[in-house]
Amino acid sequence: MKISYNSEPLEKIKTECLAIGLFEEEPLLAEARKLDLAIGNQITSLLKSKDFKAEPNEIYLLPTSNKVPARRILLIGLGKKNEFEIDTARQAAATAVHELRAKKITAFSSALFGAGIKGPTSELAKAIAEGAILGNYAFQTYQTEEKRKTKPVESLELIYKDKSEISRFRDVVEDAAKVAEIVNYCRETANQPANIATPSYIAGEAEKLGRKYNFKVTVYDKKGIEKLGFNAILAVSAGSTQEPRFVVAEYKPKSASSGPVCLVGKTITFDSGGLDLKGEKYMENMKFDKCGGITVLGAIAAAAATESSAHLIGLIPISENLPSGSAYKVGDIYKTFSGTTIEIANTDAEGRVLMSDAIAYTKEFRPKAVIDLATLTGACVVALGNQAAGLHGNDKKLIDRVKAASEATSERVWELPMWKEYGEQIKSEVADIKNLGEEGAGTITAAKFLEKFVPKDTAWAHLDIAGVAYTEKNPTKTYISKGSTGYGIRLLTELFKNWR
Ligand code: BES
Ligand code: ZN
Ligand code: ZN
Repeated sequence: MKISYNSEPLEKIKTECLAIGLFEEEPLLAEARKLDLAIGNQITSLLKSKDFKAEPNEIYLLPTSNKVPARRILLIGLGKKNEFEIDTARQAAATAVHELRAKKITAFSSALFGAGIKGPTSELAKAIAEGAILGNYAFQTYQTEEKRKTKPVESLELIYKDKSEISRFRDVVEDAAKVAEIVNYCRETANQPANIATPSYIAGEAEKLGRKYNFKVTVYDKKGIEKLGFNAILAVSAGSTQEPRFVVAEYKPKSASSGPVCLVGKTITFDSGGLDLKGEKYMENMKFDKCGGITVLGAIAAAAATESSAHLIGLIPISENLPSGSAYKVGDIYKTFSGTTIEIANTDAEGRVLMSDAIAYTKEFRPKAVIDLATLTGACVVALGNQAAGLHGNDKKLIDRVKAASEATSERVWELPMWKEYGEQIKSEVADIKNLGEEGAGTITAAKFLEKFVPKDTAWAHLDIAGVAYTEKNPTKTYISKGSTGYGIRLLTELFKNWR
């Protein structure tokens, strides 16, 4: 989406559609009042008659009949003024874009609704741009042209009365727009079905992103993975005719001030469960089991696009999990890359097996911190639903930074305990550990399994994104549509914004 800026008063703006936000039971602000006067008090009448109450994400499209240069005015409800948050604006912008898409209006102008109420203007302008761009995405690639009921919006003009303030927030908006476009690109990749998005396809996507945003990508094929000694990755992929891949993606800023951060992402292009085959209902969305790795790629692309100061190394193990005559079996024991042996107690707990080699391999890079993202457990969906990722780790400072980034982006996290007693649940009688925890706390025992592979004395955070990586229906936030949410890319970008 092309973004431009304008500081003219609302009643002078020439545009296909002028979006303004209104609060419930509040008088119009001076700028909106002047606009309303120019169109014969239509807005006031609508509010009075309660045909438009300005409830959150309520909309009303108003033709202006040439009374002002704007052809239409789109009223968006912001709800109660005292409940306004930055995310309200993000959602309102997405709501506006949905209406424009449905009406096939491809260009619009938007006031910085909510300016001055919460947070700096730059944060608000950023959120509106994000909401507009994220709200503009829908997975339509495989629908024929005629079946598509909507048309993407192509340009947004941000309106704010103060020219010098615009010049101050421009860079912030431009960066946010780049990141939001990357999020949409990653959502499109994550939405690809498993017959398209195979391990080699995802590796190809990594190379494509690396070329586009100028970061280094190395792809290891099955032979390379064998050479590296990643027996756990090979075990998971053994049942599939699609060979695994291992991707290393590196973004190194010109002046990297501290050691790298390693990002590890679970990338199972389809999780059937393996020999412990999933039931129909549980297998349905398992093309999304690749979202961890795609988020890592997106975060690295975003860091490169915005010239982040953080040195990032992405480690992405990619495989299918299928049953066959060559599949790994219950009771199998594998010696992983780190030397730790694991007993396979359930072939459907493949994520932690796949991740174990990648997390252990971070040691080679002497990382300052390791952060991993994985659609790891159904138990996390039971615990937190679709509203937050499970957050685990071994370092309070890193955890707190992740929480702060989460606050700023409205990509929610919720910390779960990592008491050593939970480790008892994954003890094995025949190997060092097993990949299935004894009854209870499935999200935590999975995290305890991963913890075993984190290099010694390394700060580590683990995000279980099983509940937030995709939505099945009625997403609770307007800027998220059915399918991949792109969760985590904005959060990680925020985390690395001023990384030292
Ligand atoms: N990919 C799933 C976890 C998942 C579930 C992601 C629902 C997204 C939505 C994972 O590999 C898995 O199957 N986990 C099992 C583990 C169990 C066998 C210990 C689970 O959660 O049921
Ligand atoms: Zn599984
Ligand atoms: Zn899985």
